[in-house]
Amino acid sequence: MATRNFIPPETIDEIRTHNDIVEIIIECGVPLKQAGRNYQGLCPFHQEKTPSFSVSQEMQIFKCFGCGEGGNVIHFLQKHEGKTFVEAIEWLAERANISLPTKDTKVSARQKQINELSELNRFAVKYYHELLRTGQHSQQAREYLKNRGVVSQTIHLFQLGYAKQQRRDLYKAATHEGWNVQQLVDAGLIKNEDKGPQDRFWNRILFPINNTQGVPVGFGGRSLSNEHQPKYLNSPGTVLYNKSNILFNLDKAKQSISRKRSALLVEGYMDVLMLHQHGIENVIASSGTSLSENHASLVKRYTSEAVIVFDGDASGLQAAQRGLERLIAEEIRVRIALMPSGDDPDSFVKENGADAFNELVDKAINLIEFQIQSAIQRDNIRQPEVKTQVVKDICTMLVNIKNRVERTEYVKYAVRELNVDEGLLWRELRDLGLKDSPSPGKTKTQKTATKKLSPREQIELQFIQTLIQAPELISEIKTQFDYRDITNANFVQIAQLLWDATENGEEVDIQNILNTCEDDYVKNFISNALMSNNDFPYHQARIEGCLNKLKGFMIQELEQQVRSTSQDSDDYESSLKELVELTNQRRAVIQKNRLNKKQNLQRPDDGTVTSDNA
Ligand code: UTP
Ligand code: MN
Repeated sequence: MATRNFIPPETIDEIRTHNDIVEIIIECGVPLKQAGRNYQGLCPFHQEKTPSFSVSQEMQIFKCFGCGEGGNVIHFLQKHEGKTFVEAIEWLAERANISLPTKDTKVSARQKQINELSELNRFAVKYYHELLRTGQHSQQAREYLKNRGVVSQTIHLFQLGYAKQQRRDLYKAATHEGWNVQQLVDAGLIKNEDKGPQDRFWNRILFPINNTQGVPVGFGGRSLSNEHQPKYLNSPGTVLYNKSNILFNLDKAKQSISRKRSALLVEGYMDVLMLHQHGIENVIASSGTSLSENHASLVKRYTSEAVIVFDGDASGLQAAQRGLERLIAEEIRVRIALMPSGDDPDSFVKENGADAFNELVDKAINLIEFQIQSAIQRDNIRQPEVKTQVVKDICTMLVNIKNRVERTEYVKYAVRELNVDEGLLWRELRDLGLKDSPSPGKTKTQKTATKKLSPREQIELQFIQTLIQAPELISEIKTQFDYRDITNANFVQIAQLLWDATENGEEVDIQNILNTCEDDYVKNFISNALMSNNDFPYHQARIEGCLNKLKGFMIQELEQQVRSTSQDSDDYESSLKELVELTNQRRAVIQKNRLNKKQNLQRPDDGTVTSDNA
């Protein structure tokens, strides 16, 4: 049905060659400078400080050496302006004054209707907006918005409107302007009933819904009282408005989404408005429907990350599951931000401001982690059949992740958190149709190679050994770490000796401890540590590395405690939040570890070692 079938390739090429890519890109607001044979600028598709976006006038193509985006002028318009292929062609044709053939009368009839209904919607938006601004009987609506904190700039920017009490108000105004009943019905603005034409919207605040290009295609209407149901009434599907491929506010948000490389997905119109009013512009909502594949690919045009902002009750999460899977299938990274209980983004940002909201968004944890964590909490994970189901659910999600490295990372995460066999998880994934999983053989050898000491114990071992090698560090470490947090009983015993020996702030004499020690295990341990001293210099760095890792383990342990004490569903929300908090803390520690590692790599020896030197 699309017009593109009727644009001959030679016309497309003519259109392309009559529009200079350098001019167009500059017109679209991307500054370019000549650099040798090419033009250069900051890439509009990812954030950067030094230009890696290059445009060749000669070849009429662009290419970013940073993010890899590239193509011709049509692709640029699709990517940057969110135009479809046909829209890009039409836009370029008009710019170059080239007329497009419209051979097929069906297509042009449809196009004609699209144009007409767009025009009619523009009329309705304007009509309702004027009514809200100045109408005599709109006082209540204006008050309502005022009470909800919507300022007049926002009302103007979103072209909010008001539909009056009367059931034939718009009908009269529009027909007076020359629109006919059929057009009004086709636009979803009126319903033809037994008693004659009736306005769809009456006594409602109207939120115009635009397509990506900013053309109004429908409305969401909010009632002003609880008695008037439903709370939100939306336009029906029309030639212009297909709920599954329209995202509320994408027209205004698209630039911000591209720039921030992230889209915030909220539930309601009001959430979008209020966030925007607080300067948070990369926000979109699907108007009362779940996310479709179309929505996901629409988002993907502008960014590869979506942060889903859920109301405090988190009940929407389960319902949104399918939609979230679609985002993942589009290779969009999904993170989840939870509002405090009882809040939605609208109320939260009003009460706490943009900084607090942004903080919650920054803290949003990855969907996969989130789901693994909430599965663990929701169900009694210790029951085998529950665990089996949880593993199945998680795998259904993991199988959608296309990036192999990422997928493997999450498999590892799931293995750790759910305490399941890695081979089993891969098997499950293969059953679900995954092709590129590691061979079962490999997983097995990894398993048999597992050491006697747990990862945490291995770090504890290193930690104690290093303290023995550098006893001058002990008094400082004592202020940061409690030896009782060591899990291995033998190591605790040695740590206690070391701690006790520095009771009065004196430096420990290791030889002295060794001399007075009667325990064989301790003697051996200390000797062993001292003997291997020369192998691992840079004690300070190593100790710091160990300390960070140990703290990470402790936080993880706390998480586990939260989980096991919160099987009760009343605690579900608060513990979910606690989990988000803890997961973030752990992430901070991991981040710090990475930094340490990087720094230490520049020295002759790495901070911590993972081999077992017992
Ligand atoms: P909510 O019920 O969470 O309302 O619906 P809200 O957005 O917080 O609205 P206010 O703050 O009470 O005004 C979330 C979204 O679900 C859709 C709408 O898109 C709404 O914004 N919805 C809700 C409907 O389509 N119909 C309804 O009856 C209710
Ligand atoms: Mn609300």
